Amino acid sequence: MSAKTSGGSDAHKRRAGGRAAEDVEDGMVVGLGTGSTTAYAIEALGRAIEDGLEIRGIPTSFQSRQLAIEVGIPLTELDAVEGVDLAIDGADQVVDSPDSPAHGALIKGGGAAHTREKVVAASAERFVVVADPSKLVATLEAPVPVEVIPAAHTLVAERVRELGGEPTLRSASQKDGPVVTDNGNLVLDCAFGTIEDPRALGQELGAIPGVLEHGMFVGMADSTYVGVDGGLEVRTY
Ligand code: A5P
Repeated sequence: MSAKTSGGSDAHKRRAGGRAAEDVEDGMVVGLGTGSTTAYAIEALGRAIEDGLEIRGIPTSFQSRQLAIEVGIPLTELDAVEGVDLAIDGADQVVDSPDSPAHGALIKGGGAAHTREKVVAASAERFVVVADPSKLVATLEAPVPVEVIPAAHTLVAERVRELGGEPTLRSASQKDGPVVTDNGNLVLDCAFGTIEDPRALGQELGAIPGVLEHGMFVGMADSTYVGVDGGLEVRTY
């Protein structure tokens, strides 16, 4: 299984992204996530700006910055604002299991943007995840993307194996060699099978020297908007 889970339909993604954009009000600072689902939110915000909405966006990646510029969203930086009102972002997997303590936990980073995504989401008053039904799982099981500084990739890989994971250095598809993140680092996709305790695993991964950030987002999302046939389902945590 690759870290990027992309089986969902465009109609579902559009519905989720479009609905999240409706939560944005005049004057807000908005975190602009990365990926194909959030792209629908960014495009919807561009249209709302044409109709007079006044906001500033904080992109989480080169991709979301380019799209935001294209659709006319004025941009700012985290250190230039008092805070972020709303962050909108996609996910690779979302735990949808109300009886589980992990309900609402995410795996992100299929697009290698999870470090900035986590910083922006953590800065936000409210963090809304946008997803299609293919992202919902009872238990996280996708490989966990881990951004590492280049000098540490062998050490981190060894420590991940000690934790019971199988690390794979993410390869670029149209370049020889590895994916290099927007921060100039590498990504290890770490397969652990089913992850019963994402918070504990996240703490262990975060403690490895050379790890910049891992893609498990636990206790961060406030809601998930799931685009479905004919409508939208909302999960609130
Ligand atoms: C980027 O690194 C990821 O965290 C994305 O947010 C995630 O892969 C969701 O992307 P899609 O909306 O394209 O599935």
